[in-house]
Amino acid sequence: MGQVYTKGDIHDHYIIYEKPLGKGTYGTVHEGVHKETKKPIAVKVLKKDRFKNDKLREKVRREIDLMKAIKHDYVVNLEEVFVSNKFVFICIELCTGGDLLQFLNERGRPLSELRSKRYIGQVVEALTYLHDEKKIVHRDLKPENLLLTGDKRTIKLADFGLSNQLTSEGNNFFTMCGSLNHIAPEVFDNKGYDFRVDVWALGVVLFVMLSVSYPFDDPIRDKAVAKIKEGKLTFEQTDPIWKRISMEAKDLIQLILNTEPDQRITLNQIWDHPWMPERKNKMHKQPLDEIKSPKDAKINKVMARSMSKALFQADPLNNEELAELKMTQKEEAESTDVKVTG
Ligand SMILES: Nc1ncnc2c1ncn2[C@@H]1O[C@H](COP(=O)(O)OP(=O)(O)O)[C@@H](O)[C@H]1O
Ligand SMILES: [Mg+2]
Repeated sequence: MGQVYTKGDIHDHYIIYEKPLGKGTYGTVHEGVHKETKKPIAVKVLKKDRFKNDKLREKVRREIDLMKAIKHDYVVNLEEVFVSNKFVFICIELCTGGDLLQFLNERGRPLSELRSKRYIGQVVEALTYLHDEKKIVHRDLKPENLLLTGDKRTIKLADFGLSNQLTSEGNNFFTMCGSLNHIAPEVFDNKGYDFRVDVWALGVVLFVMLSVSYPFDDPIRDKAVAKIKEGKLTFEQTDPIWKRISMEAKDLIQLILNTEPDQRITLNQIWDHPWMPERKNKMHKQPLDEIKSPKDAKINKVMARSMSKALFQADPLNNEELAELKMTQKEEAESTDVKVTG
């Protein structure tokens, strides 16, 4: 791919559309299109002045460096990066299916087990690659950071903002990060943690896929932490939605959400679990038949985006910044296109 940082003005290369695809902790993501090749793209726009302190600046650099080193079918690809006076623009492979949380919220009902198996298989592949080959712990695995292709057949892991590469000096991290709902219990003990936090988060993601709810949710932070550390799963005792879900799925969730990292199932062992598709058959790569939803499925159990989003609302842009962003309305750009070609 060559150089990741492209010299010059992004607006000479891409049209960026105003309406955001999504908002995250540190920036907004917009759809864009390459002016020459017409290739669609996602552009993550980060305001530089939010990264005045060295720690945050380092965080952005780390996200870019990490993504640069990653090439995998189930991880979004970093294409190029532009820097202007006030912004950093990270051009990422566009996933037109949106993120998994949006998908669940729009449906208002859980995914089928078949679809969940496929997605979980893909996420396990992505995590195995990151952990084993790249020595990277993602640390922020959650539905908002799992993106879908337009046909919704493939899931791609995104948002490496919090991930970190393991160094040979020590295999633990001491930083507390991530949104509460997906944090593994060992993180709260401040004794250091490792790859196994991603496995825990995978269990939370599976729980969310099948029930559109979080396993250890509580509006009061301390209570939520206590629930995570206790790790007690209740399934249909508290939510009838679990009644129609297979024993195998619940068993796998139990094995993943083991509060003791040493006893938690590993990524390799997950493939041997009876709920999982055969890895050899690569079931998760085959076409997915249209999923029919049972008529009696409990619907409209909509969940809110995780609290952390609201805590990091970006400041509104001033006129100077808006001028530098030069965003275009999509309709406007398309009608210009018609004029040019027609
Ligand atoms: N490549 C992409 N294609 C489509 N949507 C995206 C893409 N990248 C991000 N998004 C949307 O933007 C949101 C925020 O992006 P993310 O990289 O997670 O930023 P943050 O670090 O701020 O959380 C995602 O949850 C998703 O909805
Ligand atoms: Mg995110």
